[in-house]
Amino acid sequence: MAPGLKHGQTVGRVLQLMYLGPHACNTSGYMLKFTIIQQVAVVHSNRCPQRIAKRGYYGAFLMDNLPLVKSLVEKLANGLNVPVSCKIRIFPDLQDTINYAKMLEEAGCALLAVHGRTRDEKDGKKFRADWKAIKAVREAVRIPVLANGNIRHIEDVWQCMEETGAEGVLSAEPLLENPALFAGYRTSEWVLGHEEICKAEELDQAQLLVEYLNFCEKHPVPWRMIRSHVHKLLGDWFRIHPHVREDLNKQSKLTFEFLYGIVDRLRELNARIPLFVTDDNRNNTYVA
Ligand SMILES: Cc1cc2nc3c(=O)[nH]c(=O)nc-3n(C[C@H](O)[C@H](O)[C@H](O)COP(=O)(O)O)c2cc1C
Repeated sequence: MAPGLKHGQTVGRVLQLMYLGPHACNTSGYMLKFTIIQQVAVVHSNRCPQRIAKRGYYGAFLMDNLPLVKSLVEKLANGLNVPVSCKIRIFPDLQDTINYAKMLEEAGCALLAVHGRTRDEKDGKKFRADWKAIKAVREAVRIPVLANGNIRHIEDVWQCMEETGAEGVLSAEPLLENPALFAGYRTSEWVLGHEEICKAEELDQAQLLVEYLNFCEKHPVPWRMIRSHVHKLLGDWFRIHPHVREDLNKQSKLTFEFLYGIVDRLRELNARIPLFVTDDNRNNTYVA
């Protein structure tokens, strides 16, 4: 049985397994790799509610075959000496979701992340995650639960943990626009009605982009990914100066020099759009 995660226990990097069909049911190959790197094995039946996932038999489409998910988690949990965690979406019916979570716990899952949207609720901005369903799961299992969905700024983190009782939260889409979310910074979209929040002079999205590009120089990733991160991070800035975005779109072959140049141009155009932060969080000091 895989060891459970305890409060305060630190683990190394997480290794994610996307199940690739019944032919992959013999997991010994995966197990060998997991064991060698001594990490946390993760089974995801959360992601990819798209057609490709249906064909490939992974992601949320595993929800159609719970006995298979059960046997996969059992095999991993029994055969590995690292904790196995799972990430799931919810079912439209609450009791189905609870049964699913309990089944995973019994199968040996050591930590459960719950994305509070059904697999048909694809658009995170359109569909609010159901924190009540996450709370019900939290109350039904003994393993630690991570809540996922509607985490757009730091207040959401505290509110979500309070409302769901979850041990932690996950955020994905909002981080693409604002990687400093967990440091307490928020985009202007989430400022209305919070008079205590002020403009952050020390940090903005362009600076975050520069830091991201610095990382990419050290740890190369495909240019198409870098391009999409540039659009996410500077989307608001480009709305004010669309011609800079057009120049980026015209540039079929990107270079770091070109991208740093885009940031310089926006700064010269005085296009700065600030991030916002409370005094409390500013004292936390943002560390890159
Ligand atoms: C760029 C990106 C990559 C993601 N990769 C994964 C992944 O590898 N595995 C997974 O289960 N979910 C993945 N997701 C889904 C998120 O983990 C998350 O469940 C979903 O986006 C809902 O959370 P959000 O509302 O905070 O975006 C990804 C999402 C994004 C935006």
